[in-house]
Amino acid sequence: MLKVSIVGASGYTGGELLRLLLDHPRLEVHQVTSRRYVGQYVYQVHPNLRKRTRLKFVTPDALEPVDVLFLALPHGEAQKHIARWADLATYIVDLSADFRLRDADFYARWYGQAHAAPEWLNRFVYGLPELHRAELRTARYISGVGCNATATNLALWPALRAGLIDTTRPVIAEIKVGSSEGGITPNPGSHHPERANVVRTYAAFGHRHTAEVMQELGLAHVHLTMTSVDMVRGAMATVHAWVRPGTTEKDLWRAYRAVTKENPFLRLVKERRGVYRVPDPKILAGSNYADLGFALDEETGHLVAMAAIDNLMKGAAGSALQSLNLALGWDETLGLEFPGLHPI
Ligand SMILES: NC(=O)c1ccc[n+]([C@@H]2O[C@H](COP(=O)([O-])OP(=O)(O)OC[C@H]3O[C@@H](n4cnc5c(N)ncnc54)[C@H](OP(=O)(O)O)[C@@H]3O)[C@@H](O)[C@H]2O)c1
Repeated sequence: MLKVSIVGASGYTGGELLRLLLDHPRLEVHQVTSRRYVGQYVYQVHPNLRKRTRLKFVTPDALEPVDVLFLALPHGEAQKHIARWADLATYIVDLSADFRLRDADFYARWYGQAHAAPEWLNRFVYGLPELHRAELRTARYISGVGCNATATNLALWPALRAGLIDTTRPVIAEIKVGSSEGGITPNPGSHHPERANVVRTYAAFGHRHTAEVMQELGLAHVHLTMTSVDMVRGAMATVHAWVRPGTTEKDLWRAYRAVTKENPFLRLVKERRGVYRVPDPKILAGSNYADLGFALDEETGHLVAMAAIDNLMKGAAGSALQSLNLALGWDETLGLEFPGLHPI
């Protein structure tokens, strides 16, 4: 068993990691940190873990050396002390946006400030196994993924990889997200009377995850529009793009079938009958699957590519664990092979 600790374990992604790690056959959770709940049992913050662990939260200052350290901190915190974290563990998996972008200038452009540890950017591998499996197998430092970026990237990547997209035309992603994306700390917009029942577009342009889509898909003309909807978990990307002249529905079937065959957590959902004919995040809650779909207007070449994920799983903790499994030389599905709930 390898020893693992989580910094920021009182948050939503930290809690989700803990849920996964407690059942992992080859990893043992050593310590979990929280400054607010120090000394309390983790189930007092994550009630789903009652009777699954007797761990208590410790302060970050009490961390002991381990094999793997997960960082589940708000944006900007991991980069401030990365050398200290790296002294504590052989492997670092950082779920924040701090080490997702490879270029310091690109980071400054999208995050509005200089990176505190630019020399570390190239040491991290972007933790989306579908796109970086080979590099992850030799990685020591793994970045998390942006959940909205992941839904967008997975929706379009199969068609892009097959060379079917006209990249001279813009790609427009409309993303609907649940409230857990905002983390555990409440704010006026997450107050129940304000957040319940919403369909609220909060970023028409300029969402920071756009940078991850540009970097990962190599696209220059891409726009993300973010809308909060009435879910707790889930991100649903509906991506509009144009295919190259002559591309048929059959070409797209081939492209999407190929990636779902090669990748254990990608599924193609394209049915003629039934309720679930296209991807729907509702049935993915708690699972690491990403459901992909597409529709093509052959006359105009307009492609609608879709992906549904659980933002806390494939969009955060699930991809992080899948990436770590690869880095440790294990089957990438270890500790992740369960479906979501239905009905829910
Ligand atoms: N939520 C999502 O859907 C999602 C998806 C993908 C990626 N992410 C990224 O993952 C990271 C964590 O997100 P989250 O939603 O889990 O956030 P969260 O719920 O706000 O949790 C963050 C935790 O970090 C701890 N913390 C805050 N400042 C700290 C500091 N200076 N030193 C040590 N601990 C500190 C807090 O615990 P204490 O105050 O108790 O110490 C808090 O519980 C973020 O960077 C986010 O962008 C989130």
